[in-house]
Amino acid sequence: MPRTVPVALAGAVASTAVLAWLFALPGVAGLFHWGYQRPAFVALALLAAVPPALLLVALAARRLVSERAARYPRAVAALAGGLGLLVSLAACVGVSVAPLPGRPADSPLRLVDERVGIAPGSALVRLSFSSDPHFGAASSDPSAREDIIRGVASSVPARDAFLVLGDHVEMGMFAKPWKEEAEAFARLAPDLPLVGLMGNHDALVNGAPRWRAYWKPDGADPDSGSPYYRSFDAGPASIVILDLLWGAERFSRKQEAWLERTLAAIPPERPVIVLSHAFAWASGYVDPASRRPWYDEAEVIAKVSPILEKYRVELMISGHNHYLELLESKGVAYALVGAMGGKPDPEPSYRSPASKWIAVGTHGWLDLDASAAGLALVFRDRTGAALKEAFVETRP
Ligand SMILES: [Fe+2]
Repeated sequence: MPRTVPVALAGAVASTAVLAWLFALPGVAGLFHWGYQRPAFVALALLAAVPPALLLVALAARRLVSERAARYPRAVAALAGGLGLLVSLAACVGVSVAPLPGRPADSPLRLVDERVGIAPGSALVRLSFSSDPHFGAASSDPSAREDIIRGVASSVPARDAFLVLGDHVEMGMFAKPWKEEAEAFARLAPDLPLVGLMGNHDALVNGAPRWRAYWKPDGADPDSGSPYYRSFDAGPASIVILDLLWGAERFSRKQEAWLERTLAAIPPERPVIVLSHAFAWASGYVDPASRRPWYDEAEVIAKVSPILEKYRVELMISGHNHYLELLESKGVAYALVGAMGGKPDPEPSYRSPASKWIAVGTHGWLDLDASAAGLALVFRDRTGAALKEAFVETRP
């Protein structure tokens, strides 16, 4: 066998293996689906496919023409294989090693103990929500996120917990922004109990281990078996957290079955608050990078919303779009709170038919007081001024 053949085959195998590994990482399938970095994935796929294809050509040339004619496709196959080996090695080193340095052994954040829940047994619980601070993004507004953290922490009466619905950082694989976020919470809100979700940016490109180290250091939830989707009680209400990074690409059958099981087990008199990073209903625009509609997410609406309707869920709160918005569809209220400091999204070119109210270009958060009667909502700007109030009644 000519020496070029093993090199060509090794390159193809390495490129295929790296491609499969990348797609198994949280958030990468969504990255591809939404059209980001697609040329890099296509290049890797070509490096996997071209060497074996050229070896077949060489085989045919040898049979039909001459041994000499087979040399050229074999040489190009070996070159492509060698390049595949180099690129695979670089991708492995870049993506797998990057998350390791600076990983905290124990989270420095003051996290809610989710096994106990928030304010267990209380008739009233005071929760605050925001999302998408995007630490580490040059386009984000550090003073806005500091105002929001400080504002939630200094609220009177005190809030029982602050729930941040993802996109904590711009690129999850880098250590510095995670540290910066933890330091900001320690400095501005040392006594505020926190809950965090993972967003699509947190997962990039191998950021999930860092998100887990900071926001879910105790590992997988014993009931769901996942650190990403889980459920716990907050006073008279129940919190159900979904794993939706870009859309419904991670809403597996397992997660769907767990959601059904979880909602069915919640007594009907308890209001239910579902949380996710990616939204179901939202106003928005056509994303200039992916040229895809970045609003009313059809797959989430088709797969998740009917379950919320079936179990008479009161409210779903999400981030992902950088607006404050209140919507309603088929009896379920939806809120968007992606206004914690990430660059505000543009004036929507598409207004969701479900939209009841929207604030564009305004950083802020959502206060929610839950009682047996329902959920009292107050959207606030970064100064704490109330922008919009609403009441979502419990649907027994
Ligand atoms: Fe975001």
